[in-house]
Amino acid sequence: MLRRLHPEQPESFAFTAANQQWAEAQITKYPEGRQASAVIPLLWRAQEQEGWLSRPAIESVADMLGMAYIRVLEVASFYFMFQLQPVGSVAHIQVCGTTSCMICGAEDLIAVCKEKIAAKPHELSADGKLSWEEVECLGSCTNAPMAQIGKDYYEDLTAESFGKIVDDLVAGKVPTPGPQNGRYAAEPLKGLSSLAEYEAGKPRYNASVELATDLRDTVKRIDGTEVPILTPWLGKDGKQAGASASAKPPKAPETPKSAVKQAEEAKAKPEPEEVKEDQPETLTAARDGKADDLKLLKGVGPKLEETLNELGFYHYDQIAAWTPEQVAWVDARLKFKGRIERDGWIDQAAKLAAGEETEFAKRAKEDGTYED
Ligand code: FES
Repeated sequence: MLRRLHPEQPESFAFTAANQQWAEAQITKYPEGRQASAVIPLLWRAQEQEGWLSRPAIESVADMLGMAYIRVLEVASFYFMFQLQPVGSVAHIQVCGTTSCMICGAEDLIAVCKEKIAAKPHELSADGKLSWEEVECLGSCTNAPMAQIGKDYYEDLTAESFGKIVDDLVAGKVPTPGPQNGRYAAEPLKGLSSLAEYEAGKPRYNASVELATDLRDTVKRIDGTEVPILTPWLGKDGKQAGASASAKPPKAPETPKSAVKQAEEAKAKPEPEEVKEDQPETLTAARDGKADDLKLLKGVGPKLEETLNELGFYHYDQIAAWTPEQVAWVDARLKFKGRIERDGWIDQAAKLAAGEETEFAKRAKEDGTYED
């Protein structure tokens, strides 16, 4: 499908005051010189306000972001979520026509669109209130067939229920979104097979439907009358907390320090104190020929246990007694440094030596989990 600007364009575009404030706030999210990153949110807000993206809207967003018009047009024409032609003044209906929905009756829904709205997608209905298009999977396949209308999903549709929704929209009503066959969400069609005890206490609608019903804005254009327009990183007055009147974009990160400067700073810093090594007392064999199972220490696997035995460590109490200098000595002889401290061998060994259990040892004994 060719995506180009509509032949008929409005004279101008302007964000409402509140949307302008919201758009300027979005720009503050990005460092100086990176304002173009706000292009999609701004285009989207322009569409939420007007229903579609006109050339003046695209150019206005480009001006706000200091971008060439063609760059913004490229974005607007690339993403199918942007409507480049006027849509119905009440709603633009997007019917999913992908596999699950198609198998479950999407073609019947499209027939309803053709009959009640317009013969072709993206055409306005005779009264200008509705338009429709077929879209790819909207991720609600369990509730196929479905359609997105405004910001909400209408699911488990039939030609009849969908036709009624279309009629309601024309009559100025806002139909309740969500499953239209009595399903609560995406549970099995034949009813719950588990957790059935929760059936009785469940709320009226699932969370998405409840929110849509509470807001009653499913097909409403975002015109700035919404309270509040959320810019949580700014104060309620649209200014950054503690900042002066203008919501200035945050400063770009400073240029990285030069290698010379970094080297100078590194020189000035004192070297971390080196812990001297001290060899712990070692054994030539396990006492009474009975070595402890060192694999019950988290971080010790069969290979590490072998290494420890070769170094002369067979028992928990040996490990529990290591001083920091002795830890440094053992650590220097292990393949992977830092494990003793990281895995807390000393504490673990002390517990096991005292006949206590550690979480890891308990689990390892139960399911034979040993780390290597
Ligand atoms: S196939 Fe229609 S929502 Fe996935």
